[in-house]
Amino acid sequence: MAFKLESCKNVNDPVKFIVCNADEGDPGAYSDKYIMEQRPLSLLLGMMIAGFVVGATRGVVYIRGEYPESIKIIEECISHLKINYLGENIFNSGFNFEFKVIHAQGAYICGEETALLSSIEGQRPEVRVRPPYPTQQGLFNKPTVVNNVETLANLPFIMQNGGKAYAAIGTQKSSGTKLVSLDSFFNRPGIYEVDKGTPLSVVIYELGQGFTRSY
Ligand SMILES: Cc1cc2nc3c(=O)[nH]c(=O)nc-3n(C[C@H](O)[C@H](O)[C@H](O)COP(=O)(O)O)c2cc1C
Repeated sequence: MAFKLESCKNVNDPVKFIVCNADEGDPGAYSDKYIMEQRPLSLLLGMMIAGFVVGATRGVVYIRGEYPESIKIIEECISHLKINYLGENIFNSGFNFEFKVIHAQGAYICGEETALLSSIEGQRPEVRVRPPYPTQQGLFNKPTVVNNVETLANLPFIMQNGGKAYAAIGTQKSSGTKLVSLDSFFNRPGIYEVDKGTPLSVVIYELGQGFTRSY
């Protein structure tokens, strides 16, 4: 994420976007849904922090249409934020920010970041050749940072506790935590947050209590 933010920040353009990929199309995955419905402010504040860092004034949350509850909660949260925390010159900081929510229509390919950008533009969701990368020419050819829900939702913690505190979690190469979605094939299904580097055996046999039957 730091690479993307750095790259986007260095492009001189008054119009830039932060796009949140909440298309969550992988079968069995529901960690983005969990964040949007249980920790929506972590995501929205994360997008605002990213916007502040790169100089973007618009955040687009692209949520899969099969998640009506997530869409509702995120839209409600945005309307609450609008009362004090969004718009022009937020708290006299000189920072402007607004959100737009896109109701995605259920094509798996739209989860690929460049197809997703074309879909927002109302074009066929075809994958774009890179370079140029979205941080240079993204949404409507403007510098754009595209990140997943979980990535963006980490930013408030990092702002509050510092990068070193975040880097102290997980492994040296992969810092932080990861949400894993265990479905009904496990004896104890649910969303679990584990430090990066946690062995799959711990996830499957300790947290999930093993499979419901042998395959
Ligand atoms: C076919 C395909 C489908 C994808 N679907 C998703 C998806 O549903 N959600 C997602 O966050 N990323 C998806 N990606 C990855 C995105 O292209 C992109 O790498 C990601 O949003 C970047 O987020 P991150 O850097 O925060 O991980 C998909 C990639 C491909 C090739």
